[in-house]
Amino acid sequence: YDPLLGHFTKDPSKMSRKKLLLVVLVLASLSLIVHHNWHLNWYTKSMQACYHPKSSREKHTAVVFLKTHKTASSTVQNVLFRFAEKHNVTVALPVQSCYHQFCYPRNFTARFIHPYSTPPRVITSHMRFNFSEVKKIMPNDTIYFTILRDPVSMFESLFSYYNQYCLSFKYVPNHSITTFLNNPLKYYKVTEKYAMYSHNTLTFDLGGDKDHNPEDEEYVSSFIKEMEDIFSLVMIAEYFDESLVLLKHLLSWDLEDILYIKLNMRSEESKLNITSDIPRKVREWNALDTKLYDHFNATLWKKLYKFGVDCVGKEVQLLRQAQKKLVENCFGGHPQVRLAKNIKNKELRPWQPSSKVNIIGYELPMNVASRFSDYCRKLVMPEVQYTKYLLRKETLR
Ligand SMILES: *[C@@H]1O[C@H](CO)[C@@H](O)[C@H](O)[C@H]1NC(C)=O
Ligand SMILES: *[C@@H]1O[C@H](CO)[C@@H](O)[C@H](O)[C@H]1NC(C)=O
Ligand SMILES: *[C@@H]1O[C@H](CO)[C@@H](O)[C@H](O)[C@H]1NC(C)=O
Ligand SMILES: *[C@@H]1O[C@H](CO)[C@@H](O)[C@H](O)[C@H]1NC(C)=O
Ligand SMILES: *[C@@H]1O[C@H](CO)[C@@H](O)[C@H](O)[C@H]1NC(C)=O
Ligand SMILES: *[C@@H]1O[C@H](CO)[C@@H](O)[C@H](O)[C@H]1NC(C)=O
Ligand SMILES: *[C@@H]1O[C@H](CO)[C@@H](O)[C@H](O)[C@H]1NC(C)=O
Repeated sequence: YDPLLGHFTKDPSKMSRKKLLLVVLVLASLSLIVHHNWHLNWYTKSMQACYHPKSSREKHTAVVFLKTHKTASSTVQNVLFRFAEKHNVTVALPVQSCYHQFCYPRNFTARFIHPYSTPPRVITSHMRFNFSEVKKIMPNDTIYFTILRDPVSMFESLFSYYNQYCLSFKYVPNHSITTFLNNPLKYYKVTEKYAMYSHNTLTFDLGGDKDHNPEDEEYVSSFIKEMEDIFSLVMIAEYFDESLVLLKHLLSWDLEDILYIKLNMRSEESKLNITSDIPRKVREWNALDTKLYDHFNATLWKKLYKFGVDCVGKEVQLLRQAQKKLVENCFGGHPQVRLAKNIKNKELRPWQPSSKVNIIGYELPMNVASRFSDYCRKLVMPEVQYTKYLLRKETLR
């Protein structure tokens, strides 16, 4: 039994030779690291506990990440932006009139892609999904994935984040989530531009009909089946690191490629209190999203069990250790969390939906070693700024 690999080995003689090789490799790597001082690129494929046949293949670079709202998707997007830059892969970016999203909430069409960012191999900006439109412009070996979040915490987040933006929320007396949920139809405005933030947002983002009768089992199951056929992985925000480990294996990426710092979070004071009967009411009001979520949470867990929860757990530990090291290098210990308005560097200031909600971001310390500074800056660069930066870069190219 090999504790490093997490499984029994069949051929002991082969294994000991492998081990010897491993020791030699480790020594060689160590001497390399010592020579180059600390280097950010030392995580390799050998730092994994799960065996997966795909892991030894070349890194997959053609990916579509369907970015959903308030689901930790900005963090995933940042991972993809950095991966694309590092591996010189073209990211599809929105035309300027679409801002930093593909003209969301309009239905996606290929015309929303900036011509300087074609032909793309990566798509990761917000859109209302339309598979046949996306398929037209992506390579035929593209891997699709997305992320969902528990509808209860997600709705709380939407309600607070879009409280001024979304008219269905704006006029709720005392801005009370309870008042809204006691009679959603009194406040919900189906035809307003941002109605999708207040009803079945996940279903809408994935291209479904947010106002469809949730009792229509045929619609629900065919929609779920369609999503299952398109997306090779549906991440679940509640199991973010576990989902990332699965993603890493799916794409044959290295541990280094999935390192992240959480982005686009609200401050604690901006979070609403969820009391006893709210969860039930949120699930009822967002019944389509709830069915979608419950289905794909179960799917994720099936995948995790199939993969081996123990080895995934070990890889999650490796990820967290590496992350800790990263934070030490970039922030000298712990990240300097700030309210957006207090961040001096404009490039690192996240977008605020209104003055009534506080989004937090990061300030980089002045004394970050120069060899890390570009890496660290990108790690905490918010979506809008990173999108602009990439468009400039791809335009120059
Ligand atoms: C990046 O890719 C482009 C084509 O997509 C190529 O022209 C360019 O030379 C590449 N740059 C590097 C540094 O590999
Ligand atoms: C998706 O795009 C295709 C064209 O590729 C179009 O025919 C279809 O109507 C679109 N579907 C929706 C729901 O907008
Ligand atoms: C994918 O596209 C390439 C070239 O564009 C083609 O050679 C290949 O046969 C296609 N593969 C599939 C499965 O369609
Ligand atoms: C709003 O809050 C105030 C004070 O907390 C309370 O007196 C009032 O009844 C509330 N209004 C509604 C419609 O709940
Ligand atoms: C957008 O897509 C939805 C279905 O996904 C469709 O019902 C709607 O008509 C489309 N809107 C436009 C403007 O094409
Ligand atoms: C939520 O509840 C806690 C404890 O009951 C309280 O300390 C906190 O201020 C409340 N937050 C809001 C936004 O009402
Ligand atoms: C997701 O599924 C797992 C396994 O069935 C379950 O234990 C867990 O409670 C579910 N998580 C959520 C947030 O519903």
